[in-house]
Amino acid sequence: MGRGLTQELLPLELGEMSFPIQPILKWAGGKRWLIQQLKTLYVPYRSCRLVEPFCGGLSVSLKLLPENALLSDINPHLINFYQWIQKGLTISIPMENDSEMYYAHRELFNELIRMGKSRIRQAAELFYYLNRTGYNGLCRFNRHGFYNVPFGQYKTIHYQRNFKPYQNLISRWEFLPTDFENLKLNSSDFIYADPPYDVKFTQYAKEDFGWNDQVRLVEWLSKHKGPVLISNQATERIIELYEKAGFKLFYLLAPRRISCSGNRDKAQEVLAVKGI
Ligand SMILES: C[S@@+](CC[C@H](N)C(=O)[O-])C[C@H]1O[C@@H](n2cnc3c(N)ncnc32)[C@H](O)[C@@H]1O
Repeated sequence: MGRGLTQELLPLELGEMSFPIQPILKWAGGKRWLIQQLKTLYVPYRSCRLVEPFCGGLSVSLKLLPENALLSDINPHLINFYQWIQKGLTISIPMENDSEMYYAHRELFNELIRMGKSRIRQAAELFYYLNRTGYNGLCRFNRHGFYNVPFGQYKTIHYQRNFKPYQNLISRWEFLPTDFENLKLNSSDFIYADPPYDVKFTQYAKEDFGWNDQVRLVEWLSKHKGPVLISNQATERIIELYEKAGFKLFYLLAPRRISCSGNRDKAQEVLAVKGI
């Protein structure tokens, strides 16, 4: 396929049931909108372990529901939260959509980080509350690693206290808080990589994901013997990077718009595949 953009890049035939599972967190860059295309590509490889090195809000894994998965993200608080769900998390801290409570909980969360206690259950509870209540579901840290997202000012928020319904679903998956390059892969793993977009602002965790990381990623993915699928913003340099590495590219329009520059055009997304 050439560089021309097309909406209908892939057949949407799966004939599968869709699972009524709601995402647990609000997460920037979530890929629920891409799920039909991802399913089409993944289903023939269902017997392989799914590796998602940028698992974020789990919007993809919770839809693909792999038997076997290695899910990782560099954000240790996010992974800690999932690991607590695996142990059977129910939330006992007070949760209200109130700015005073929000800033008090944020202070407490940062205090746990300061004391090296960010892996305890209370940190997971606070992380969930901050994610629901903070601005736009952002998860941003300052350069010292402290959470600094302001209050979200939503009209209403639905807080969940009992995560037991998710426990069975995710308990068979392995979660790791790490940079993608540290993962130990099996040659038959199916990798779906959804890195931070190639844009200037990519501060999900305290480490930024810059151009060097995009290059590091394509080099790492190129070495993998099994099937690889990656999504990213279709910038010129990303297209060139993956074309040069021998990936097959498909284009589509993302529902989000390019607005930080005042441009209201729909963002262009690229799916790059290898070994599929
Ligand atoms: C676009 S989001 C992934 C969204 C996810 N696919 C979803 O649907 O929710 C990118 C993720 O990459 C993570 N990340 C950033 N740098 C990373 C790195 N070097 N290694 C692993 N994960 C990283 C961020 O914490 C963020 O959760």
